[in-house]
Amino acid sequence: MAGSTLIIKDLHVEIDGKEILKGVNLEINGGEFHAIMGPNGTGKSTLSSAIMGHPKYEVTKGSITLDGEDVLEMEVDERGRAGLFLAMQYPSEISGVTNADFLRSSINARREEGEEISLMKFIRKMDANMEELDMDPDMAQRYLNEGFSGGEKKRNEILQLMMIEPKIAILDEIDSGLDIDALKVVAKGINKMRNEEFGCLMITHYQRLLNYITPDKVHVMMQGRVVKSGGPELAQRLEAEGYDWIKQELGIDDETVGQEA
Ligand SMILES: Nc1ncnc2c1ncn2[C@@H]1O[C@H](COP(=O)(O)OP(=O)(O)O)[C@@H](O)[C@H]1O
Ligand SMILES: [Mg+2]
Repeated sequence: MAGSTLIIKDLHVEIDGKEILKGVNLEINGGEFHAIMGPNGTGKSTLSSAIMGHPKYEVTKGSITLDGEDVLEMEVDERGRAGLFLAMQYPSEISGVTNADFLRSSINARREEGEEISLMKFIRKMDANMEELDMDPDMAQRYLNEGFSGGEKKRNEILQLMMIEPKIAILDEIDSGLDIDALKVVAKGINKMRNEEFGCLMITHYQRLLNYITPDKVHVMMQGRVVKSGGPELAQRLEAEGYDWIKQELGIDDETVGQEA
């Protein structure tokens, strides 16, 4: 079976009645790694929250489909079961639920009754992935993200990714706050996921992550729209020259680019 396709068409999203996304178009196929870059406050996290169905983010126009299925019609948990995964910019802490329990129930939520992963298989897979990510084995029994350092939270998001094996993942600033060693570990985990069944959208503020994970396509987001797309060379040019040349090319007024979060 070939991978999945996530199609976002003319997506408009409002928060508290204010339009943040103003017509986003994007298509991500299994086997592809995409990156979205853009200044602060241009709606990158809003896009990921809207895809995952955060109630605060109201879709006023446009569509999101996964293999032709209407994602906007799905409840949040259905979106996960359908194969979407979101690593949030600020992962939340859940007290009382251990990391291992959370991972196991997330895996089983995507399986039919009677097809649940065996405890042995689960533990073997978790141990192997935690070792791959240089994670302390004790973290499996800690409450989800509770007291985790910034870097530990990001590694833990990648652990979830490797365990749940979604069809399409959206990783929002998975690189922020990581030192270089942690960044390499996180990149190694993401690169390991590369296969025809898996598509990935990496949202990042810096080109740095893309030194370790080569994207197939790079998109620039400004003022709630994808204003430019290209290959990895686009990210390199942004790193070297910033965003000014794009603003000039598109005739975007400096004053109106982005809104500080
Ligand atoms: N939950 C929210 N409540 C109010 N405003 C928000 C919320 N989330 C985002 N915004 C606003 O939407 C705009 C885009 O924010 P965001 O999507 O976080 O940008 P980015 O991720 O590109 O830095 C900003 O002006 C921000 O203040
Ligand atoms: Mg953001």
